[in-house]
Amino acid sequence: MTQRGAMTGRARLLAAARREPVDVTPVWFMRQAGRSLPEYRALRAQHDFLTVAKTPELAAEVTLMPVERFGVDGAVLFADIMLPLDGMGVPFRIDPGVGPVIERPIQTAADVAALRILPVEEATPYVLDALRLLRGELGERAALLGFAGAPFTLACYLVEGRSSREYPKTKALMLGAPGVWHDLMATLTEVTVRYLQGQIDAGADAVQLFDSWLGLISAPVYEEYVFPYTKSIFRALAGLAPTIHFSTGTSQLLELIGDAGSDVVSVDWRVPLDEAWRRIGAEKGIQGNLDPTVLLAPSDVIAREASDVLRRAAGRPGHIFNLGHGILPQTDPDAMAQVVDLVHSWQPASVIA
Ligand code: CP3
Repeated sequence: MTQRGAMTGRARLLAAARREPVDVTPVWFMRQAGRSLPEYRALRAQHDFLTVAKTPELAAEVTLMPVERFGVDGAVLFADIMLPLDGMGVPFRIDPGVGPVIERPIQTAADVAALRILPVEEATPYVLDALRLLRGELGERAALLGFAGAPFTLACYLVEGRSSREYPKTKALMLGAPGVWHDLMATLTEVTVRYLQGQIDAGADAVQLFDSWLGLISAPVYEEYVFPYTKSIFRALAGLAPTIHFSTGTSQLLELIGDAGSDVVSVDWRVPLDEAWRRIGAEKGIQGNLDPTVLLAPSDVIAREASDVLRRAAGRPGHIFNLGHGILPQTDPDAMAQVVDLVHSWQPASVIA
């Protein structure tokens, strides 16, 4: 460890993503720029979600909110995993409290064949403009994080049409019409690679692939229907910028996820961080893994649980502190501030002794 405060937020997060030494552990929160912040709710009272996400000045303003309020080391672009669907010619809306809704879900080979693959500057120019704006405004305060939904998670929404507990139509298509499934995954992979490469070109310092619903499938199903696509995305991005692979509820898949090719694996709270790290492999960085509901508990519980995560990471290079999934909207921002301060003032016992 170098002296605390010796690194900027940007340098700290990027060093951890490369498993290089840091002054203190970097920290950011998934969904940090959202409904838990009063300044976000005030802005949202004036503009709907997609207007904010598609107006570069507004998206940049929201992205900066948690950097300014908490001093987090990562600024995740305010956007949504559904935005690339615009360029693919798939109309969707985001309903408050529900999430994404696709008007005409994908069902057939013809539906898949009709999906367009456009140059990213044409498909989602506002995302690239927001990143360019942010790279300038952020300076060294925080690393700028781009992101995309992973093909499996996007397919869940495209086939099901909306959020679901089991995604039965999606799994039925995957297992029952594998040819259609593989064509859909190949198209989504191509779109995702272009989208993330475009984000890196526009100034994203690192990118995260969100595979939020991966917990629905077994290891053999993952290996056959999903893993090759994930792997080809990380292969296409190798050397361009550090990559983070996020999923949740995937303790059955950790070894395979470790082999999928990202630099960092984001794990949830269901497996203790040290055990998860051992299973994904010591040559990977790890992100996580505080349970987001802990932030609803009293501050002594927050301190105990956040310290437990840090103790398990044990100051080894390559840990990025985060939650195991997004901040819950009812979270008190003071709890988020407490965690940032605790992580930034943590010294592993070996250093104190
Ligand atoms: O701060 C950040 O993390 C950046 C912004 C971000 C949003 N969506 C903004 C958003 C990110 C990284 C996402 C990713 C996303 N979107 C995922 C992957 C992450 C995860 O949580 O697993 C998924 C599955 C989606 C799809 C989606 N979009 C859902 C489930 C919802 C929430 C529906 C609801 O109202 O609870 C959305 C809408 C959405 N995306 C909101 C935000 C802040 C809420 C919209 C609002 O302001 O009303």
